[in-house]
Amino acid sequence: MRSRALVTGASGGIGETFARRLADDHDLVVVARRAERLHDLAGELRVGGTDVEVLPADLRREDGLAAVEHRLASTERPVDLLVNNAGFGTTGTFADAALERELAMVELNVVALVRLTHAALVAMGARGRGAIVNVSSLAGFQAVPGTAVYAATKAFVTNFTEAVSEEARCSGVRLQALCPGLTRTEFHEVNAFDVGWLPGVAWQSAEEVVDASLAGLERGRVVVVPGLVNRAAATASWLAPRTLVRRLVATALRR
Ligand SMILES: NC(=O)c1ccc[n+]([C@@H]2O[C@H](COP(=O)([O-])OP(=O)(O)OC[C@H]3O[C@@H](n4cnc5c(N)ncnc54)[C@H](OP(=O)(O)O)[C@@H]3O)[C@@H](O)[C@H]2O)c1
Repeated sequence: MRSRALVTGASGGIGETFARRLADDHDLVVVARRAERLHDLAGELRVGGTDVEVLPADLRREDGLAAVEHRLASTERPVDLLVNNAGFGTTGTFADAALERELAMVELNVVALVRLTHAALVAMGARGRGAIVNVSSLAGFQAVPGTAVYAATKAFVTNFTEAVSEEARCSGVRLQALCPGLTRTEFHEVNAFDVGWLPGVAWQSAEEVVDASLAGLERGRVVVVPGLVNRAAATASWLAPRTLVRRLVATALRR
């Protein structure tokens, strides 16, 4: 029997790429708000023989989140792999930010991810197998002035995932924090991140990111930073003094 993966934020970018890659050997449940995009994707993947359930949901709303939790808890057609990928970011100084939007980001990037991780972990733990990929970011390795709350949500995702992966070590459930750097998707346009000027070497495709994640899952890697440039950046931010790192990041983003 084929395994089944549930991917959030599957209507575009990294999530859609996960769905396409996983369709080779998984049946799928695809989640996002834009149902039409999900149905188009499902139609395409079904041609290749993949069973695809479309589950439109706004993960910032109680009804949407509860529906996905319920699907993860179901023992019928159980989910073997959860990819917690839906997320967004904001830019600008925190003092000038619309607080509602910042809190909405915490609801999606943190609260929804924690609730879905819990639902999946309990269901998978009962079966003694499964995997959860939480999509974090390179931004989570240091403070990022200019996108303070976004970077903090991703620091949460990485630390949370690492801790739970250790707790779950003997349960048969693996967890991974995937920490991509700049990835070509709609993310920067949707969220008004002015990063187009950064050199090509700093960018990866969504395919490269997803391939690194799936390879990391095979090898049991808990924190996956895709790409040499990103790994170098992560190492530099671990080794350098925090004061220097946050000042440099602020200067780079101010240009
Ligand atoms: N692109 C990058 O450079 C980059 C780097 C590091 C980390 N990441 C992380 O990677 C993940 C995916 O980002 P991406 O680059 O693929 O961005 P994207 O192209 O903007 O895709 C974001 C996805 O999240 C979904 N989503 C947003 N709000 C949602 C909500 N309230 N409920 C349900 N789904 C929602 C969107 O679908 P709908 O609009 O249809 O709901 C979309 O499918 C995010 O967690 C992001 O923080 C991205």
